[in-house]
Amino acid sequence: MNGVTVVDHPLVQHKLTIMRDKETSTASFRRLLREISLLLCYEVTRELDLTTRTIETPLMPMEAPTLEGKKLVFASVLRAGNGLLDGMLDLVPAARVAHIGLYRDHDTLEAVEYFFKAPGDLEDRLVIVVDPMLATANSAIAAVDKLKQRGATNLRFLCLLAAPEGIERFTSAHPDVPVFTASIDEKLNEKGYIVPGLGDAGDRMYGTK
Ligand code: PRP
Ligand code: URA
Repeated sequence: MNGVTVVDHPLVQHKLTIMRDKETSTASFRRLLREISLLLCYEVTRELDLTTRTIETPLMPMEAPTLEGKKLVFASVLRAGNGLLDGMLDLVPAARVAHIGLYRDHDTLEAVEYFFKAPGDLEDRLVIVVDPMLATANSAIAAVDKLKQRGATNLRFLCLLAAPEGIERFTSAHPDVPVFTASIDEKLNEKGYIVPGLGDAGDRMYGTK
């Protein structure tokens, strides 16, 4: 699919299978999400631009590669986005962080915003939006709409599971935003859940419900 990368690394797929299993505990689910986030972060940052700077090794001076441009922004869609965020910050500790509070209305499946806080200079930075689930895409579209309103022009969307319907809607609404996911599942069910899926990501992460 255009603009969509499926991260099919064997470790990602193995860990994802354990996360999908309904017998997996809250503690294991959280740990696995953090582990997978490291591998997904590696993929989503693969094309970052590099420049060089002069350093001196113990043997000689050299022009060595270093990341170009301003620090990245990770934009976490609360609550479940934080499960990806923590591991990503382990890999890119200097990243700036945006938090976007959204929940799905259970009846309409519309995204309802309750919080937004982001760095002021989004226009100068690559913004990677993280949320484990892309179901109807209402939340992802609302999150990216808001970030664009606040100036972001260079964005990527990273999730764990996506429904084909959600990918279709998201890429129509935001064709300029590449999507990275560990799996494109079969479909959405009548309640807007991804199937086979893994259930409610936020509830499984935090042991709620
Ligand atoms: C989940 C998930 C996404 C959203 C995806 O969050 O983390 O944000 O649903 O569904 P959509 O693509 O149909 O919008 P939820 O609204 O359950 O909130 P939570 O993370 O606080 O549990
Ligand atoms: N949100 C979730 O957490 N899971 C789904 O399957 C759909 C939306």
